[in-house]
Amino acid sequence: MPETPVAPRMPQMPLMSGMPNTPVMPAMPSAAHGPGRVAISDAEFDAVRRFIRDAAGIHLSTAKKALVCSRLHKRLAACQVASYTAYLQIVSDAANTLERQVAIDLLTTNETYFFREPTHFEALADHARRRALHQQELLRAWSAASSTGEEAFSMAMTLADVLGCQRWEVLGTDISTRVVAQACAARYPMTRASRVTPEHLKRYCLKGVGAQAGMLRIAQSLRDRVRFAQANLMRSLPELGTFDVIFLRNVLIYFDLAGKAAVLGNVTARLRPGGLLCVGHAESLQGIAHGLVPIAPSMYRRS
Ligand SMILES: C[S@@+](CC[C@H](N)C(=O)[O-])C[C@H]1O[C@@H](n2cnc3c(N)ncnc32)[C@H](O)[C@@H]1O
Repeated sequence: MPETPVAPRMPQMPLMSGMPNTPVMPAMPSAAHGPGRVAISDAEFDAVRRFIRDAAGIHLSTAKKALVCSRLHKRLAACQVASYTAYLQIVSDAANTLERQVAIDLLTTNETYFFREPTHFEALADHARRRALHQQELLRAWSAASSTGEEAFSMAMTLADVLGCQRWEVLGTDISTRVVAQACAARYPMTRASRVTPEHLKRYCLKGVGAQAGMLRIAQSLRDRVRFAQANLMRSLPELGTFDVIFLRNVLIYFDLAGKAAVLGNVTARLRPGGLLCVGHAESLQGIAHGLVPIAPSMYRRS
């Protein structure tokens, strides 16, 4: 990639030229069924709802029928089947791990952005500052439904501001392998960085040039301290260790009460004593026995 002059604020991004394209779903053949979509019956829609509830804990309301169709219809052509019933047979077979994962990826909602709900990042910075006064050991933070990684990298920028580029690490996990792959690439359109301050852009981001113009990449100094993995919060989790801070944000809304309780138990078991848990501002832990101490709206401490 030719190196061209870039704006003075951000370093340029030679690393981008060697980056592979972000892996996405297996290639889809062109629409085999023409422009018309296969209709989904109520029974088939209920079967899709059961599939994603069992696989991910996600509760899809009946209002989501059109959304489900718009997300899944291309997979019928890709799998060369003519009905949702036939497609559901494929994804219900545990041996079809690849297509099951594609369906899960398509049925999750991955909206996210840098520094979403900023009071949580202020709380993270305060927690890191206070902890640094007493403890020298590694601070570990977890973005437990990290989507494409903006949340984990916002946590990383916050921690790097307070602690420098050492003595902390961030783990991001998500059920969707597609978004985990995007997070690992750490590459975003500049238009998605409107909430990243100029100082953070300058310090922690590289600006794409040439074929990568209009993109940014998170700097190596942060990428070295942030990793991503696939994990289903509804199931027993891989060995992740314990954390000082956990962000579990804008994911509980997709679960019913029993699902919320299961996920919360799974997640808080990994929160260290004195650790901070943040949930989304729109999410409530009401009706769930969690044993955490509320310290501010949507923030809890483990005693
Ligand atoms: C709306 S995004 C929230 C992203 C980020 N936490 C934020 O607040 O901006 C919700 C994410 O939760 C993930 N998710 C849904 N069910 C999950 C499960 N059972 N285990 C892990 N992640 C899940 C989705 O794939 C999606 O990326």
